[in-house]
Amino acid sequence: MGQETTSDPKLRVLVGVTGASGAIYTQRLLQHLCRYQVQTHLIMSPYASQVIEAELPGGLVVPDKVQRHQSKSMNLPFASGSNPPDAMVVVPCSMGTLARIAQGTSEDAMLRCADVVLKERRKLILVTRETPLNLIHIRNMEAVTEAGGVIMPASPHFYHQPKTIEEIADTVVTRILDHIGVQHQVGSRWQQLLPEASSRIPDR
Ligand SMILES: Cc1cc2nc3c(=O)[nH]c(=O)nc-3n(C[C@H](O)[C@H](O)[C@H](O)COP(=O)(O)O)c2cc1C
Repeated sequence: MGQETTSDPKLRVLVGVTGASGAIYTQRLLQHLCRYQVQTHLIMSPYASQVIEAELPGGLVVPDKVQRHQSKSMNLPFASGSNPPDAMVVVPCSMGTLARIAQGTSEDAMLRCADVVLKERRKLILVTRETPLNLIHIRNMEAVTEAGGVIMPASPHFYHQPKTIEEIADTVVTRILDHIGVQHQVGSRWQQLLPEASSRIPDR
C-alpha cells in the first residue's frame, strides 16, 4: 500500500473500538490513517474483540505503526487534559459506550480519553451503530452533541455504486477522515470524477 502525506504530519488520532457491529469500519480507518501517515493510537473495549471475531475472519489487522493501549490502564498520554489527542474516533460505537460517554463516567481509559477530548474541546466523533433507536439512545446523542461531540452514525451511502464491502465501508470512513482533517483521496465525492486509481487501496 502506498504512503501519502496528510496536511498536518503531527496529527494525533485515538481510535476507540467497542462491541458494536462494524469492525470493517475500524479496519478501513486504521489502514487509511496509516496510509496518510497520521499518528494513530488504538484502544479497545473488552467486548470489541468478540464482535471482531464474529465479523472479520482473519481478525483485525493492526498496522505496525499503530500504537496500542490497554483499556484498564490510565498510562496513556491522552488520559490527561495536559496531553489530549487532536481527535478521537470511537468506531464502531455501541449504545453502551455512548451512554457512558454521555454520562462522563470515565471508568476506563477509553471513556476517560473521550471525557478529556470533550473537556479540552478537541474533536470527538462517535460512529454509532444501532437500529432502531430508543429515546435513551437519542437523549445520549443529544447530550454528546451539546458537549461538542459529533454523532456520525455508520450510515453508508450507495450513490457511487460500491462494488465491495470495503468500498461500502469507505463511504463512512471517508466522512470520518474529512472530519478529522485528513486530506485524502479515498473514494469519490458527489459530482466529482474519481481522482486516480490510487484512490482505491487493496482489500485486506
Ligand atoms: C455480534 C455482536 C454485535 C453487537 N452489535 C451491537 C451494535 O451494533 N450496537 C450496540 O450498541 N451493541 C451491540 N452489541 C452489544 C454490545 O457488544 C454490548 O452492549 C456491550 O456491552 C458493549 O460494551 P462496550 O461498549 O464496552 O464495547 C453487539 C454484541 C455482539 C456480540
